[in-house]
Amino acid sequence: MNNLSDSLKRTTWNFFSGSQLTFGPGAIGTLTGVLRREQSQRVLVVSDQVLCEAGIVTQAEVAIQQSNSKMEIFRDGEIEPSTETVEKLIEVATEFKPDLFVAIGGGSNMDLAKAAAAAFSSQSDVESLFGFNQVITATAKVVCIPTTAGTGSEVTHSAILKNSTTGNKAAILSQHIRPDVAIVDPQLTLSCPPQVSAESGIDALTHAIEAYLVRNFFAFSENFDQGLPYEGNHPLGDMYAEKAMCLIGQNLQRVIDDPHDLAARSGMALAATLAGVAYSSCGVSLAHALEYPIGAAFHCSHGVGNGIVLPAVMEYWSTTRQSRVAQIAGFLGVAQSENMPIAEAADAAISRVRELRERIGLPTGLSAVGGNETDIAGLANTAMSLDRLVALSPVTTTLEDLTGILRASL
Ligand SMILES: [Fe+2]
Repeated sequence: MNNLSDSLKRTTWNFFSGSQLTFGPGAIGTLTGVLRREQSQRVLVVSDQVLCEAGIVTQAEVAIQQSNSKMEIFRDGEIEPSTETVEKLIEVATEFKPDLFVAIGGGSNMDLAKAAAAAFSSQSDVESLFGFNQVITATAKVVCIPTTAGTGSEVTHSAILKNSTTGNKAAILSQHIRPDVAIVDPQLTLSCPPQVSAESGIDALTHAIEAYLVRNFFAFSENFDQGLPYEGNHPLGDMYAEKAMCLIGQNLQRVIDDPHDLAARSGMALAATLAGVAYSSCGVSLAHALEYPIGAAFHCSHGVGNGIVLPAVMEYWSTTRQSRVAQIAGFLGVAQSENMPIAEAADAAISRVRELRERIGLPTGLSAVGGNETDIAGLANTAMSLDRLVALSPVTTTLEDLTGILRASL
């Protein structure tokens, strides 16, 4: 893939996004108008017990009642939703016959609703939808209302589930599951605990940085019929990733220092959504590939795992992508003199990520979650098997390279 001759290089790239984004404090109230416009008669709300008890689901209920739609609430959302939970939701949907799903919560609840809507609409077994482009028909409308600033699932074309049969995580990737409407209301993130805010925030930062540094779009062979799960880096993806990094540089630490700072919460909410747009078009790569086995081995969250490896992944890419890594310093607010050498700016960007990770209280290395040298070979092997992510690295990546990144992340 690295040595494509010029004749094989792509000359085009694609950009996808959902059809509507409504953003701002109080945005949840606009749900009424969305339901009226869609002429929705039957709304299936997908959330969890915690958010029901916190009163957040009640706000959506009020908006749905004002639209006169009938409503059913599924309260059994869980962290890392399993295919079994998706099946339970499909059972509820089969009984209730919704014409629209409203997901309220973090990435887990949104992914649950996206997957169930696709399986319900196509009358398919959810496991048959794993992989790229296996959802081949339009799904019921999905409105996503995030309550954390992290995954960006409200705008992405992916849903990550835990396969109840194998215990492994698997992804559904299809433009058909990109939510129709994202209602991003920063007020809903005000009660998000600092630990979750930090983990979600570093995930959003990882999305933006990886989307900015992945392989260029022209380094992939075109597949006009099937498309590609991720396009590789392109100019419009850059625009979203750059803005997301700027917002995270300005606001991530602020939301940890003062969880009730609505301006900072708004900055992070917007950043997470923009980073979601960027990565769901351009892609994510080695940090996410390495996080997968780290999360499984040490039972740490997706954000913690990403945060552990992100600086070393940037370091690994800082030769191939030196000017881009250097630019990240500016986006993250590092003061630079006008004639700072590129190599120095790249180092400053990586140091800034390390510093941010520490200041928001996240583990700074594998050893902090219980890992040591003897775990590295196994983790590297599993990460290497995730072709879809490793192929997006801007440089040909070997098992030894992954081993080196993990060793630098100890
Ligand atoms: Fe992520």
